[in-house]
Amino acid sequence: MRILGIETSCDETAAALIEKDTDNHLMLMKQSLSSSMLLHAKTGGIIPEVAAREQLRYILPVIKDVLSEKIDIDAIAVTVGPGLIGSLLVGVETAKTLAMVWKKPIIPVNHLIGHIYANFISGNSIRQSGGRNSKLASTDIKFPAVALIVSGGHTDLILMKGHGSIQWLGGTRDDAAGEAFDKIGRLLGLPYPAGPAIEKLAKSGNPKRFHFPKALLSEDNFAFSFSGLKTAVFREVKTMKQPARNAAHSAAGGLSNETIADVAAGVQQSIIDVLVAKTLKAAQQYKARSILLGGGVAANESLRDQFIQNTRHQIPDTEIFFPEKFLCTDNAAMIAAAGALIGKPQPWSKIQANPELYL
Ligand code: KG4
Ligand code: ZN
Repeated sequence: MRILGIETSCDETAAALIEKDTDNHLMLMKQSLSSSMLLHAKTGGIIPEVAAREQLRYILPVIKDVLSEKIDIDAIAVTVGPGLIGSLLVGVETAKTLAMVWKKPIIPVNHLIGHIYANFISGNSIRQSGGRNSKLASTDIKFPAVALIVSGGHTDLILMKGHGSIQWLGGTRDDAAGEAFDKIGRLLGLPYPAGPAIEKLAKSGNPKRFHFPKALLSEDNFAFSFSGLKTAVFREVKTMKQPARNAAHSAAGGLSNETIADVAAGVQQSIIDVLVAKTLKAAQQYKARSILLGGGVAANESLRDQFIQNTRHQIPDTEIFFPEKFLCTDNAAMIAAAGALIGKPQPWSKIQANPELYL
């Protein structure tokens, strides 16, 4: 079975072709992605109308890119939400039109479930067990599983008792983890999206110099909060800038490169500590056999390493999985994967974009 995936929920325009064999193994055949990130970097954040206009330009080229001359597909999976309405509409209406013209079933996919299902693409998900880093077949992931979605818009913990069995355990009360990286990056004068830049700076920084908050760390729930971290960084930066104004400094408004690296390292560590602690707590409580990471922030190497170390140390019988980096950030392969394993085809007339869709 071959599924064409289409993803346009935020600033990416993406298409991918996934093949599912009779053993439910998913193979990524081809993918194509166009991002308007560079345009948004100039403005320091996404302007929804700019994103949607770019998606209108690229939606047909990316689809054409992954298909051969013969339209050899069995279904179309498309992100219906959550996301920006203008962006979602581009993908959804294109998918509906193609489904109608080609007479193919269409499968609506929740973007957040897609992030989890990036882990099920054979040979593209990384499994960490017993000190080895091996790539896997989608059927290797055992349930129950606890999934952590960490992206620019979401931070959610989910319990999966089987394919398609999704129970929301908790999430952020304010900013998402990726949003915290991006907003703090802006304070530090870093380009959008700031997650990768903070990760790079953090490598040479001292995570212990600043004591940033780790909100809700010891609370007995699966809630997160990252807006206090942004406020704490803002205060710290403001205080440091005052006396430092006349010294030789980096471009980031009067802070030395060393200080910026230390702030980056401290911020990254605060975010990772909370994410790891709450996810492992959920895994213990629900006796999870697997932990699945997904979303753009899951591309962060330190986060991946600290998840591996802590899981091995605290719950060695639980295996941890994360997608290849290019499948952590938004892509269409994950949408096709979710469609292939748990999707329910619907008539095109019933499919609608839903920006508020949740779990
Ligand atoms: O999943 P994604 O591509 O889009 C959403 O669905 O939101 O996630 C984008 C987010 C951005 O906030 C970006 O700063 C963050 O993921 N991100 C990272 C890294 N790469 C992307 N955060 C920390 N470290 C990274 N290496
Ligand atoms: Zn996403």
